[in-house]
Amino acid sequence: MPEPAAPAGPLAGRTAPHGKVAEPLPLCPSSALAERGLAFGFDVQLWGQSARAFALRFDGRVVAYMNRCAHVPVEMDWQAGDFLDHERRWIVCSIHGATYDPVHGHCLAGPCAKRRLMAIETVERDGQVYWYPSRDIQPVAFDAAAEESPR
Ligand code: FES
Repeated sequence: MPEPAAPAGPLAGRTAPHGKVAEPLPLCPSSALAERGLAFGFDVQLWGQSARAFALRFDGRVVAYMNRCAHVPVEMDWQAGDFLDHERRWIVCSIHGATYDPVHGHCLAGPCAKRRLMAIETVERDGQVYWYPSRDIQPVAFDAAAEESPR
C-alpha cells in the first residue's frame, strides 16, 4: 500500500512524537488578539513539564512563544499578558530587560546573547487562531478522572 502523500501548506513537515502529522489545536478567537496588544497566555507541556506560552498579534500576524526567557528560564511578562515595551515594538523581559524581536523571537539586546525565544507555530483561519504542538511542546493532557471527582 502506498504511503499517503506528504501534507502541504501549513501542515507540511509537522510531526507529533508518535510520527503522525501534528493537528493544529484551537487557541483563541482572532478577536482576542489586538494589534500589539496584550498576549493570550496558555498552558502547555514543555519536555513533559507544565509551562506557559503566549500568543500576540504583531503587524497583523499571530506569533507565539514559550513564556521563557533565553537568559534565565523564567516567565517574562511585566503583568499578565504584557510583553511589549512602551512603544509596543519589542518583547522585553521584565526581569533583566532582554529584548527580543516579536517577528522571529531573536534576542536583540540584553543578557539573552544570541539566543532566541522558543517559537510555537500558529495558523489563523476563519476567525480562529490555532497552534501546532511539536516534539518538545505538547498540549496539557486532559484528566477526565480529575474533572469528574467530587470537590
Ligand atoms: S531572566 Fe530575562 S533577562 Fe534575565
